Amino acid sequence: MDLPFDGAISRYFKEAAPKEVRKTIEKASKDEILWKDYPYREELKKSDYKTQMEALQVQLVRMAADIKATGKRMVVVFEGRDAAGKGGAIAAAHENLNPRVAGIVALPKPTDREAAQWYFQRYVDWLPAAGEIAFFDRSWYNRGIVEHVFGFCTPEQRAKFFRQLPEFERMLVDEGIILIKLWLEVGQAEQLQRFLDREQDPLKQWKLSQIDIDGLAKWNEYTAAIDETFAQSHFKYAPWTVILSDDKLRTRLCVIQNILQSVDYKGKDPNVIGKIDEKICGGPKKRQ
Ligand code: ADP
Ligand code: AMP
Ligand code: MLT
Repeated sequence: MDLPFDGAISRYFKEAAPKEVRKTIEKASKDEILWKDYPYREELKKSDYKTQMEALQVQLVRMAADIKATGKRMVVVFEGRDAAGKGGAIAAAHENLNPRVAGIVALPKPTDREAAQWYFQRYVDWLPAAGEIAFFDRSWYNRGIVEHVFGFCTPEQRAKFFRQLPEFERMLVDEGIILIKLWLEVGQAEQLQRFLDREQDPLKQWKLSQIDIDGLAKWNEYTAAIDETFAQSHFKYAPWTVILSDDKLRTRLCVIQNILQSVDYKGKDPNVIGKIDEKICGGPKKRQ
């Protein structure tokens, strides 16, 4: 089989990955969580996931119906490193919703014309109208993180982004938009394992990009850019929720619980939503 990018990911795994990352992947058993600081050693059982997810889906459908009926507007920003699980979490939150109510916004890199506009301008186009939910698969936060790591913006452009960001998000909230910012935090070994899986899986190869390949060697640059971004954007009126995401199933449940908790709707049942697992979910922490 022809591997995407000529097998660049398996080559990185064999030749260039940090030794402890390679070792962690090599010695892990199936279903074992790779991140050593993760609060669980094994993934959630599929049967437990299924039961909880079915109940949460009913709540999501009620929430969306209420948003439509009452004209609320909701923005959910999904951020996280490559392969953190943004796409899967969005799919799980979106699957049973009316597509006229809930849309997914996954913008490609800016066109020349967009690059010549106000940075936030093209995102504004995709904000919800009354009765709509917009799930952002990546967002304006590109300028704080990936654009900085890859030099796609100048330091001046990034500084201006951080200057305008508090006002921009304040305007969204002031406008009455329910703004939810979710950061999916994946460990380095799990990220590489997911890339290796994507390289082999014809149904997932489309998820790989040159950015993913070139980003492999930039873990620490990403870490620095992410920490700077949290330091500049964890506002009282628009806080981050960080979800430790090595376990995809726990992550998806937690993502949906966070969405449901952030809005009142007809038929809301706190017992069904359940308690958010604080072992994997909280605010951004300072790294040791
Ligand atoms: P994804 O991980 O979302 O599937 P990529 O890994 O290819 O996509 O790219 C990560 C992000 O970087 C995307 O939001 C993409 O639009 C953005 N990006 C890629 N190239 C550029 C560029 N030249 N300038 C600005 N942003 C870019
Ligand atoms: P990692 O390099 O991802 O294994 O994480 C190293 C340290 O960063 C751990 O002690 C984590 O508790 C901490 N950490 C994890 N997620 C975050 C986050 N979102 N913000 C700040 N620190 C974090
Ligand atoms: C994810 O898993 O976070 C998304 O699919 C984005 C990506 O391909 O890296």
